[in-house]
Amino acid sequence: NSGAPDSKNIRVKLVLLGDSGVGKSCIVLRFVRGQFDPTSKVTVGASFLSQTIALQDSTTVKFEIWDTAGQERYAALAPLYYRGAGVAVIVYDITSPESFNKAQYWVKELQKHGSPDIVMALVGNKADLWTNREVPTQDGIDYAENNGMFFIETSAKTADNINQLFEEIAKRLP
Ligand code: GTP
Ligand code: MG
Repeated sequence: NSGAPDSKNIRVKLVLLGDSGVGKSCIVLRFVRGQFDPTSKVTVGASFLSQTIALQDSTTVKFEIWDTAGQERYAALAPLYYRGAGVAVIVYDITSPESFNKAQYWVKELQKHGSPDIVMALVGNKADLWTNREVPTQDGIDYAENNGMFFIETSAKTADNINQLFEEIAKRLP
Protein backbone atom coordinates (compact mmCIF):
# COMPACT_ATOMS: atom_id res chain seq x y z
CA ASN A 1 0.00 0.00 0.00
CA SER A 2 1.45 3.34 -1.07
CA GLY A 3 -1.19 5.52 0.58
CA ALA A 4 -0.73 8.13 3.28
CA PRO A 5 1.49 7.13 6.24
CA ASP A 6 -1.58 6.75 8.45
CA SER A 7 -3.57 4.64 5.95
CA LYS A 8 -4.76 1.21 7.04
CA ASN A 9 -5.75 -1.98 5.31
CA ILE A 10 -8.63 -3.76 6.99
CA ARG A 11 -9.92 -7.24 6.19
CA VAL A 12 -13.34 -8.29 7.45
CA LYS A 13 -15.56 -11.34 7.17
CA LEU A 14 -19.11 -10.35 6.14
CA VAL A 15 -22.11 -12.69 6.11
CA LEU A 16 -25.42 -12.08 4.32
CA LEU A 17 -28.52 -13.62 5.87
CA GLY A 18 -32.21 -13.45 4.99
CA ASP A 19 -35.11 -15.27 3.43
CA SER A 20 -34.77 -17.01 0.07
CA GLY A 21 -35.50 -14.65 -2.82
CA VAL A 22 -34.90 -11.33 -1.05
CA GLY A 23 -31.93 -10.58 -3.32
CA LYS A 24 -28.81 -11.41 -1.27
CA SER A 25 -26.92 -12.89 -4.23
CA CYS A 26 -28.01 -10.02 -6.48
CA ILE A 27 -26.73 -7.45 -3.94
CA VAL A 28 -23.34 -9.20 -3.92
CA LEU A 29 -23.25 -9.50 -7.73
CA ARG A 30 -24.08 -5.79 -8.06
CA PHE A 31 -21.42 -4.79 -5.52
CA VAL A 32 -18.65 -7.06 -6.81
CA ARG A 33 -19.28 -7.12 -10.58
CA GLY A 34 -21.65 -4.20 -11.22
CA GLN A 35 -24.19 -6.57 -12.76
CA PHE A 36 -27.79 -7.64 -12.19
CA ASP A 37 -29.22 -11.07 -13.01
CA PRO A 38 -33.03 -11.14 -13.35
CA THR A 39 -32.83 -14.96 -13.54
CA SER A 40 -30.63 -15.37 -10.43
CA LYS A 41 -30.68 -18.99 -9.17
CA VAL A 42 -31.26 -19.91 -5.54
CA THR A 43 -28.00 -20.31 -3.65
CA VAL A 44 -27.07 -23.84 -2.58
CA GLY A 45 -25.18 -23.96 0.74
CA ALA A 46 -23.33 -20.66 0.41
CA SER A 47 -21.06 -18.84 -1.99
CA PHE A 48 -17.92 -16.79 -1.37
CA LEU A 49 -16.73 -13.61 -3.07
CA SER A 50 -14.43 -10.80 -2.03
CA GLN A 51 -14.27 -7.12 -2.88
CA THR A 52 -12.00 -4.30 -1.71
CA ILE A 53 -13.04 -0.68 -1.41
CA ALA A 54 -11.04 2.45 -0.61
CA LEU A 55 -12.39 5.02 1.81
CA GLN A 56 -11.71 8.77 1.55
CA ASP A 57 -8.97 8.64 4.20
CA SER A 58 -7.20 6.04 1.98
CA THR A 59 -8.08 3.17 4.30
CA THR A 60 -8.83 0.06 2.26
CA VAL A 61 -11.38 -2.48 3.39
CA LYS A 62 -11.42 -5.99 1.96
CA PHE A 63 -14.80 -7.65 2.43
CA GLU A 64 -14.69 -11.45 2.50
CA ILE A 65 -18.31 -12.11 1.69
CA TRP A 66 -20.25 -15.24 2.57
CA ASP A 67 -23.56 -15.20 0.69
CA THR A 68 -25.71 -17.78 2.48
CA ALA A 69 -28.66 -19.80 1.15
CA GLY A 70 -31.99 -18.52 2.44
CA GLN A 71 -34.01 -21.67 1.87
CA GLU A 72 -35.18 -23.23 5.13
CA ARG A 73 -33.38 -26.52 4.49
CA TYR A 74 -30.03 -24.67 4.80
CA ALA A 75 -30.86 -22.81 8.04
CA ALA A 76 -28.77 -25.17 10.18
CA LEU A 77 -25.65 -24.26 8.17
CA ALA A 78 -25.87 -20.55 9.01
CA PRO A 79 -23.68 -20.69 12.16
CA LEU A 80 -20.80 -22.00 10.04
CA TYR A 81 -20.91 -18.73 8.10
CA TYR A 82 -21.73 -16.15 10.77
CA ARG A 83 -19.25 -17.56 13.30
CA GLY A 84 -16.33 -15.15 13.53
CA ALA A 85 -17.98 -12.67 11.16
CA GLY A 86 -17.26 -9.00 11.85
CA VAL A 87 -20.26 -7.88 9.82
CA ALA A 88 -23.74 -9.32 9.30
CA VAL A 89 -25.97 -7.92 6.55
CA ILE A 90 -29.55 -8.99 7.14
CA VAL A 91 -31.74 -8.56 4.08
CA TYR A 92 -35.49 -8.47 3.53
CA ASP A 93 -37.68 -7.59 0.54
CA ILE A 94 -39.79 -4.43 1.00
CA THR A 95 -42.70 -6.16 -0.79
CA SER A 96 -42.68 -9.11 1.67
CA PRO A 97 -43.70 -8.80 5.34
CA GLU A 98 -42.77 -12.49 5.80
CA SER A 99 -39.22 -11.66 4.80
CA PHE A 100 -39.17 -8.78 7.32
CA ASN A 101 -40.22 -11.25 10.06
CA LYS A 102 -37.46 -13.59 8.95
CA ALA A 103 -34.95 -10.73 9.15
CA GLN A 104 -35.97 -10.16 12.78
CA TYR A 105 -35.42 -13.86 13.47
CA TRP A 106 -31.84 -13.56 12.13
CA VAL A 107 -31.17 -10.45 14.21
CA LYS A 108 -32.20 -12.33 17.37
CA GLU A 109 -30.12 -15.35 16.43
CA LEU A 110 -27.05 -13.15 15.93
CA GLN A 111 -27.66 -11.33 19.19
CA LYS A 112 -27.62 -14.72 20.93
CA HIS A 113 -24.88 -16.53 19.00
CA GLY A 114 -22.88 -13.99 16.93
CA SER A 115 -19.70 -12.16 17.98
CA PRO A 116 -20.55 -9.58 20.66
CA ASP A 117 -18.91 -6.77 18.67
CA ILE A 118 -20.46 -7.69 15.29
CA VAL A 119 -21.54 -4.76 13.08
CA MET A 120 -25.08 -5.40 11.86
CA ALA A 121 -26.87 -3.82 8.92
CA LEU A 122 -30.57 -4.18 8.13
CA VAL A 123 -31.30 -3.91 4.41
CA GLY A 124 -34.71 -3.47 2.77
CA ASN A 125 -34.00 -4.59 -0.82
CA LYS A 126 -36.07 -4.32 -4.04
CA ALA A 127 -36.72 -0.62 -3.37
CA ASP A 128 -37.45 -0.28 -7.11
CA LEU A 129 -40.68 -2.22 -6.44
CA TRP A 130 -42.00 0.62 -4.26
CA THR A 131 -45.43 0.46 -5.95
CA ASN A 132 -45.83 -2.98 -4.30
CA ARG A 133 -44.31 -1.95 -0.97
CA GLU A 134 -45.71 -3.81 2.07
CA VAL A 135 -43.04 -2.97 4.67
CA PRO A 136 -43.05 0.76 5.50
CA THR A 137 -39.61 2.37 5.55
CA GLN A 138 -40.33 3.59 9.08
CA ASP A 139 -40.74 -0.02 10.31
CA GLY A 140 -37.22 -0.81 9.09
CA ILE A 141 -35.82 2.38 10.63
CA ASP A 142 -37.49 1.69 13.99
CA TYR A 143 -36.45 -1.95 14.18
CA ALA A 144 -32.84 -1.14 13.27
CA GLU A 145 -32.66 1.72 15.76
CA ASN A 146 -34.04 -0.44 18.59
CA ASN A 147 -31.41 -3.08 17.84
CA GLY A 148 -28.36 -0.88 17.31
CA MET A 149 -28.16 -1.60 13.61
CA PHE A 150 -27.45 0.47 10.53
CA PHE A 151 -30.46 0.63 8.14
CA ILE A 152 -30.70 1.23 4.40
CA GLU A 153 -33.06 0.47 1.52
CA THR A 154 -31.40 -0.77 -1.67
CA SER A 155 -32.12 -2.01 -5.16
CA ALA A 156 -29.77 -4.56 -6.66
CA LYS A 157 -31.71 -4.04 -9.90
CA THR A 158 -31.10 -0.28 -10.26
CA ALA A 159 -27.92 -0.27 -8.07
CA ASP A 160 -29.55 2.28 -5.78
CA ASN A 161 -27.66 2.48 -2.44
CA ILE A 162 -25.60 -0.70 -3.04
CA ASN A 163 -22.18 0.98 -2.82
CA GLN A 164 -23.47 3.19 0.00
CA LEU A 165 -24.40 0.07 1.99
CA PHE A 166 -20.83 -1.23 1.96
CA GLU A 167 -19.26 2.21 2.48
CA GLU A 168 -21.41 2.84 5.54
CA ILE A 169 -20.49 -0.58 6.94
CA ALA A 170 -16.79 0.15 6.35
CA LYS A 171 -17.07 3.42 8.29
CA ARG A 172 -18.59 1.60 11.25
CA LEU A 173 -15.86 -1.02 11.60
CA PRO A 174 -13.98 -0.87 14.90
P1 GTP B 1 -31.43 -17.49 -1.90
O1 GTP B 1 -30.13 -17.73 -2.59
O2 GTP B 1 -32.43 -18.58 -2.17
O3 GTP B 1 -31.29 -17.25 -0.44
O4 GTP B 1 -32.09 -16.11 -2.52
P2 GTP B 1 -31.37 -14.69 -2.67
O5 GTP B 1 -31.71 -13.84 -1.47
O6 GTP B 1 -29.94 -14.84 -2.96
O7 GTP B 1 -32.14 -14.04 -3.93
P3 GTP B 1 -31.54 -13.67 -5.35
O8 GTP B 1 -30.45 -12.66 -5.21
O9 GTP B 1 -31.20 -14.89 -6.09
O10 GTP B 1 -32.79 -12.91 -6.03
C1 GTP B 1 -34.08 -13.52 -6.09
C2 GTP B 1 -34.91 -12.87 -7.20
O11 GTP B 1 -35.15 -11.50 -6.89
C3 GTP B 1 -34.26 -12.90 -8.59
O12 GTP B 1 -35.27 -13.09 -9.55
C4 GTP B 1 -33.68 -11.51 -8.71
O13 GTP B 1 -33.54 -11.11 -10.05
C5 GTP B 1 -34.71 -10.66 -7.95
N1 GTP B 1 -34.13 -9.45 -7.35
C6 GTP B 1 -33.04 -9.36 -6.55
N2 GTP B 1 -32.80 -8.11 -6.17
C7 GTP B 1 -33.77 -7.36 -6.75
C8 GTP B 1 -34.07 -5.95 -6.73
O14 GTP B 1 -33.42 -5.12 -6.09
N3 GTP B 1 -35.19 -5.56 -7.44
C9 GTP B 1 -35.97 -6.43 -8.13
N4 GTP B 1 -37.01 -5.93 -8.81
N5 GTP B 1 -35.69 -7.75 -8.18
C10 GTP B 1 -34.62 -8.21 -7.49
MG1 MG C 1 -28.72 -16.42 -3.14
